[in-house]
Amino acid sequence: MAAAVVAAAALGGGLFLVAWRWLRGARGSAAAAGAGAGAASMRGKTVIITGANSGLGRAAAAELLRMRARVIMGCRDRARAERAAREIRAEVGERPPAEGGGELVVRELDLASLRSVRAFCHRVLQEEPRLDVLINNAGIFQCPYMKTEDGFEMQFGVNHLGHFLLTSLLLGLLKNSAPSRIVVVSSKLYKYGEINFEDLNSEISYNKSFCYSRSKLANILFARELARRLEGTGVTVNSLHPGIVRTNLGRYVNIPLLAKPLFNLVSWAFFKTPLEGAQTSIYLASSPDVEGVSGKYFGDCKEEELLPKAMDDLVARKLWDISEVMVGLLK
Ligand SMILES: NC(=O)c1ccc[n+]([C@@H]2O[C@H](COP(=O)([O-])OP(=O)(O)OC[C@H]3O[C@@H](n4cnc5c(N)ncnc54)[C@H](OP(=O)(O)O)[C@@H]3O)[C@@H](O)[C@H]2O)c1
Repeated sequence: MAAAVVAAAALGGGLFLVAWRWLRGARGSAAAAGAGAGAASMRGKTVIITGANSGLGRAAAAELLRMRARVIMGCRDRARAERAAREIRAEVGERPPAEGGGELVVRELDLASLRSVRAFCHRVLQEEPRLDVLINNAGIFQCPYMKTEDGFEMQFGVNHLGHFLLTSLLLGLLKNSAPSRIVVVSSKLYKYGEINFEDLNSEISYNKSFCYSRSKLANILFARELARRLEGTGVTVNSLHPGIVRTNLGRYVNIPLLAKPLFNLVSWAFFKTPLEGAQTSIYLASSPDVEGVSGKYFGDCKEEELLPKAMDDLVARKLWDISEVMVGLLK
């Protein structure tokens, strides 16, 4: 009897989750179609997406290719990136640019190495006559204490400093291609971060959750300060949070073996798919609705309010100045 009750409850719960996921999927597709309907063709436009071989970046690369952009995938592992590019081409059905199709190219970019960022930008500046959109998407989440090649705490180094240098070196090309856009993928978890200037490298203490949140707060402060500096240039910059998305981001999070099936079920049912999660990046990269909009923060393709700590212009300027020194733009 008891076994029958447990089996019935499990079956009922399973059916509920399937129905829930199905309904969410249907709603997500309708929202995606709505956002897509408002999006312009990206034909003739060049887009760089960092971390485009996985998760949100991969989904955005596929959609922007579908919209006929020339998409440059900035990825740290060439083999993984080439594999993702092959799969995306097969999904989207790449047509040659001469026949009006988009283009997908892979370039090596390790944001944990300033040397690699410089080499990537050097190549882009040599090869690309224009750059219409830069999507700073790549990210690392709650890793154990590690340092980048240049000795920075990994999450701050990759999520903030690597992108800071990348954006700075590509700004001239973005300005020459104006109107152009910069999209910065942050996270709602910024709320739990602080810019503790006295220990940006976390040498005094390291807390992996705090450091992720700090790097995501830095993303928003950077986007707002950059928007201020870019006023009147035709280059806009906005930040966003994608929601909770089922991607590879949690690779450093330890889930006990026995809890994994439950986690997989719950994340399948309740988390966004990468395509759903990428909608705000795609919207900010392509929609005419946000032409000229700059310095704002978005979620689900709508502007959202920020906590005062993310709108602190003094902290943003100080972070900018220190970042310039850390990445070697200022001696
Ligand atoms: N998933 C969520 O729920 C969520 C929520 C809020 C914000 N976000 C943000 O969304 C962005 C995309 O994450 P995701 O969820 O799509 O995770 P993901 O599937 O793990 O993708 C992250 C991408 O960043 C790349 N990356 C990591 N370190 C790099 C480095 N040193 N140099 C160059 N690329 C590097 C990864 O490359 P490899 O594949 O080679 O490791 C991968 O392509 C991140 O900025 C993340 O903070 C995600």
